[in-house]
Amino acid sequence: MAQIRSVLVTGASRGIGEAIAKALGRAGWFVFAAARSKERCDEVAREIVKAGGRAEGLALDVGDVTSLTHALDRLKDRELALDGLVNNAGIAISAPLVHPSEDLVEKHLRVNFHGPRRLIEAFLPEMKRQKFGRIVNVASSAGLRGYKYVSAYCASKHALVGYSRAAADELAESGVSIACVCPHYVDSPMTDASVKRLVEKTKRNESDARALLAAQNPGGCLVTVEAVADAVVDLMGEGRNGWIVELDGSASRVIEKR
Ligand SMILES: NC(=O)c1ccc[n+]([C@@H]2O[C@H](COP(=O)([O-])OP(=O)(O)OC[C@H]3O[C@@H](n4cnc5c(N)ncnc54)[C@H](OP(=O)(O)O)[C@@H]3O)[C@@H](O)[C@H]2O)c1
Repeated sequence: MAQIRSVLVTGASRGIGEAIAKALGRAGWFVFAAARSKERCDEVAREIVKAGGRAEGLALDVGDVTSLTHALDRLKDRELALDGLVNNAGIAISAPLVHPSEDLVEKHLRVNFHGPRRLIEAFLPEMKRQKFGRIVNVASSAGLRGYKYVSAYCASKHALVGYSRAAADELAESGVSIACVCPHYVDSPMTDASVKRLVEKTKRNESDARALLAAQNPGGCLVTVEAVADAVVDLMGEGRNGWIVELDGSASRVIEKR
């Protein structure tokens, strides 16, 4: 890459987002590593810089419009053209279909869909003007099919995949690409939380619970955060528009092309 390009990675404080931020740093991008825990994002940014890259931490709650506005203002102050956006921040709360105490569908849509959608809307005008932009949304296999007890999560990820498919059609020939990665269970803190819940509910030990989740992946293994990061870097580098890349825990990627 001849020119330094900058990218915002949301949910970069840990897990998949941290791996994506570091991989993009290694690939030569100036990385804005964003999440609610700014201190952790600063730490991730420092590690990218230590490895020879360029990065800064940024406080951002994608589910909060005021926080989004502040973060976008901070990015404008930096006077760097934003060429890339990785919408990775996300939540997953499991519950039966009707949850008595909280509107989980609204909560998942706010963070997992409206957050990314608002960031895309904020970035697109400048990307279209400069005829260059790379957007990757970290969705999920739950954006391609349904699973029991995560209807709110599935709804939000289906929304993100559907929006991305439509946006890819609209952005064809614009120089801006939009793609999704859809991993099955990933070896990340989000899955650690699922393992913990399984241990509590079923009295299995931790390694059996982890093996049970891995066995649900068609490839039989948990997807690594590095495999997700590699897929994102490839999609960003090549500007794959409308690609939906499913990572199922096997060595291969299942790719839907528009
Ligand atoms: N783990 C899996 O099995 C799996 C499978 C398929 C897809 N995914 C998707 O991959 C993405 C990353 O998952 P992960 O496994 O890395 O999860 P994770 O370990 O729980 O990390 C989630 C990240 O998102 C950030 N985040 C959460 N809510 C946020 C908010 N309102 N605003 C800004 N940042 C927020 C968290 O940082 P703060 O808490 O500091 O804000 C953290 O950096 C998610 O979109 C998830 O749905 C995960």
